[in-house]
This record gives sequence, C-alpha cells and structure tokens, in this order.
Amino acid sequence: MAEPILVARSKEAIFLLPKMANRHGLIAGATGTGKTGHAANARGEF
Ligand SMILES: Nc1ncnc2c1ncn2[C@@H]1O[C@H](COP(=O)(O)OP(=O)(O)OP(=O)(O)O)[C@@H](O)[C@H]1O
Ligand SMILES: [Mg+2]
Repeated sequence: MAEPILVARSKEAIFLLPKMANRHGLIAGATGTGKTGHAANARGEF
C-alpha cells in the first residue's frame, strides 16, 4: 500500500492517507500561507 504523505507539521505531523485520496479535498488558509504550493506538492506525490 502507498505510504502516507506528509502534508503539514504542527504539534504533530499530519498525513494524507493515499487510500482516502479518491475523495474530494479542501485546502483553506489565509492568503500567502502555501495553498497553491501544497496542491502542487501533493499532485507530485500522486
Ligand atoms: N511550507 C512553506 N515553507 C516556506 N515557504 C512557503 C511554504 N509554503 C509556501 N511558501 C511560500 O509562501 C509563498 C506563498 O505560497 P503560495 O503561493 O502557495 O500561497 P497561497 O496560499 O496559494 O497564496 P494565495 O492565497 O495568494 O493564492 C510562496 O513564496 C511560497 O514559496
Ligand atoms: Mg494560491
């Protein structure tokens, strides 16, 4: 099975589970906080 994809680090690391990635997703945040950059990275992982 594909490995979990690290998407953020806070107090704990946050991972996207590839088996759940055929659902819709939402990237939200204030301007300039990395939404577009994250979407580009995640697309590369798939
Ligand atoms: N995790 C990160 N670490 C360091 N710099 C980052 C990180 N994420 C984004 N940046 C930098 O922050 C800037 C804004 O990122 P990005 O364009 O992805 O934000 P955005 O949320 O899509 O902004 P907007 O709301 O204006 O579309 C870019 O210069 C990017 O290189
Ligand atoms: Mg953007």
